[in-house]
Amino acid sequence: MAATNIEVWQLGTVVEVRNIAANVQRVVLEPSRPKTAEPGSHIDVMVSIDGHQDKRSYSIVESAEDGTQLVISVLKAPLSRGGSLFIHALQPGDQLEITQPLQNFPLRVGAQRYILLAGGIGITAMINMAQVLRNLKADYTFVYAGRNRAAMAYLEELQDLHGENLVVHIDDEGTSLDVDALVAGATEDTELYMCGPIRLMDAVRRSWTERGLSYPNLRFETFGNSGWYDPEEFVVKVPSLGLQVLVGPGRSMLEALEDAGADMMFDCRKGECGLCEVRILQLEGAIDHRDVFYSSRQKNATEKMACCVSRAVTSKTGLTAEASPSGPAIVTIEVS
Ligand code: FES
Repeated sequence: MAATNIEVWQLGTVVEVRNIAANVQRVVLEPSRPKTAEPGSHIDVMVSIDGHQDKRSYSIVESAEDGTQLVISVLKAPLSRGGSLFIHALQPGDQLEITQPLQNFPLRVGAQRYILLAGGIGITAMINMAQVLRNLKADYTFVYAGRNRAAMAYLEELQDLHGENLVVHIDDEGTSLDVDALVAGATEDTELYMCGPIRLMDAVRRSWTERGLSYPNLRFETFGNSGWYDPEEFVVKVPSLGLQVLVGPGRSMLEALEDAGADMMFDCRKGECGLCEVRILQLEGAIDHRDVFYSSRQKNATEKMACCVSRAVTSKTGLTAEASPSGPAIVTIEVS
């Protein structure tokens, strides 16, 4: 699912900001070079973090038909690497660099049946898609799972719009999503589109595989920003380059290696394409695999990792640990 789009950068002017759920900011942008946004598309945004310019991807939640307005909605994550803080500080009149809409999560029109699954802020990737399916009178179920109502952006609007097609699961109300039951409702002709935390998407992928359903019918969007564990500071060593780099909780391993002068391969920077793969030579700690590129078996083997999103952590229950360091985790790697 690597992006196949050509990035066309332009200016986006902020025309409205509004808080729409706990820590979720809705931002309306007017692009200088409007282009129609297809369902499932996103924009890349240049954000400024501690003097660094960095790129973040955000789903287009709503858009004017001619593309003259684009809406993104962004969760201010407590452990964010800084992008969401930048977005939450925006005010009307601010200008920022954004791409024209990019597409790597297309909706295939014509399936017999659809399941759309959104976990938390993953709802932003699914709203446009659900709207299209509704307009097409397609057979779809739109599943929205969250921790509590206050944190679930767009919940009431979606209930009004999609009625019985929307199925809501709320942890605090004792109606948590049962992934196996959801997947059990899929048939050979069902296409499932999802966006949400990596734990949720991994559980769906596992269940989908166990049921022997067609893998191409399982489609997902990931922005590579959620892991199994909180980000920690860790050390990466690259003996072939004579490098030893400390990776702070707000930087990715890829960024830290680039900062140190390493010539790295990458494409998506979202844990989808595998181009940034590094081989693990030695590990003191465990790997928090945050990509959707490797299979569970490959992740458990701890032989390689997608360094754009995955991190080293001190040993945690449930992760394969080679050793438990007393200080930060240390991963020794070889780059391609
Ligand atoms: S750059 Fe695509 S997975 Fe890392």
